[in-house]
Amino acid sequence: MKEEEKYMQRCLDLAEIGRAEARPNPSVGCLILYDGKVIGEGYTSPYGGNHAEVNAVQAVLSTYGSQEAKRLLAASEVYVSLEPCAHHGKTPPCADLLVEYKPGKVIIGCLDPSEKVSGKGVERLQRAGIPCEIGVLGEKAKWSVRRFMTQVTKSRPYVILKWAETADGYFGSSDLQQKWISNPATKQWVHKWRSEEDAILVGKNTALIDNPSLTVREWSGKNPLRVLVDKHLEVPLEYKIFDSAAETLVFNAERFDLKKNVRFIELENFDLYLPQNILYQLYLLDVQSLIVEGGAKMLQSFINAGMWDEARIFSTPEKWGEGIKAPEIRGEVIEESQIADNTLTVMKNSAFDS
Ligand SMILES: NC(=O)c1ccc[n+]([C@@H]2O[C@H](COP(=O)([O-])OP(=O)(O)OC[C@H]3O[C@@H](n4cnc5c(N)ncnc54)[C@H](OP(=O)(O)O)[C@@H]3O)[C@@H](O)[C@H]2O)c1
Repeated sequence: MKEEEKYMQRCLDLAEIGRAEARPNPSVGCLILYDGKVIGEGYTSPYGGNHAEVNAVQAVLSTYGSQEAKRLLAASEVYVSLEPCAHHGKTPPCADLLVEYKPGKVIIGCLDPSEKVSGKGVERLQRAGIPCEIGVLGEKAKWSVRRFMTQVTKSRPYVILKWAETADGYFGSSDLQQKWISNPATKQWVHKWRSEEDAILVGKNTALIDNPSLTVREWSGKNPLRVLVDKHLEVPLEYKIFDSAAETLVFNAERFDLKKNVRFIELENFDLYLPQNILYQLYLLDVQSLIVEGGAKMLQSFINAGMWDEARIFSTPEKWGEGIKAPEIRGEVIEESQIADNTLTVMKNSAFDS
């Protein structure tokens, strides 16, 4: 790895620390280098707070005092994983802050495609005479803000499919009973993943058979918005998916109203383009990411519509010989790991790479 890639990797690692709290803002990492030494770093504060560049500059100011900091910053290189913003949002533009201290160079992971930024941050820096280098660890930088990128460029949430299957490709029991597939250790992973996304979706049969809460219990973090697809409202309101632990949306063909924490959204032509319509409604509600946890029919309908970005599949050594078949999917395998005797395969949908 080249020197500059190492510093960008550090920015990406910093961004990861702030990710859960920064939502819906993309989490960004920033590092300031003077004469080969890191003199300040920062990452995006919880939503509404400072951007990474502000935190990194403040770190330099508080370590060195304002006069010395000004001298160091003017001769520094600033690494940042996403293009500095150029607009007044909840905080002033980061590009203006950098222009104020005028570092020797700004090295950027990837550009910000949102209308408010989209090259304007770089333009402002370059107009002030600050050289910019763009695209250092560019693919990794885009990956780190993939939820935000998807929302901005595709006008829909980032979609993660998740399921468990047996070695012979089965997914559920054919006798309408819940039958656990993956090992207990995977449960903690699943709860961590739930805490990282805005919403979680299941189909009607899964809600009826498994009666899941879809909350975060074996990890710390926020419960996602729960989404149920239930055309004729067959899932009783006493089921766990409607408890007070989180809000629930029910996409259906019968009613459009709100009852306590449950919002019923009636879809016209329910069976037509269902995944697309659900994603559009979630986009309107500012949902940036969705994890689809089953069942097989629901997952397959997202796959068939091409409406997925990432799939996380646990496979077990066990063979069942019969049952509900697991969804069929084709994608690029980007990771394979072992969790005790289960294999976790992560795929991405290369068909939709932008
Ligand atoms: N292995 C795992 O990771 C995992 C995860 C979750 C669940 N499960 C198991 O999976 C089983 C349930 O799976 P499932 O496939 O039977 O049910 P499901 O996907 O949970 O629900 C499917 C139902 O949703 C409704 N639906 C309406 N429009 C749809 C559309 N366009 N696409 C898909 N579904 C639509 C249909 O109901 P209508 O018939 O009313 O139209 C359909 O029968 C359970 O046994 C559960 O234990 C396993």
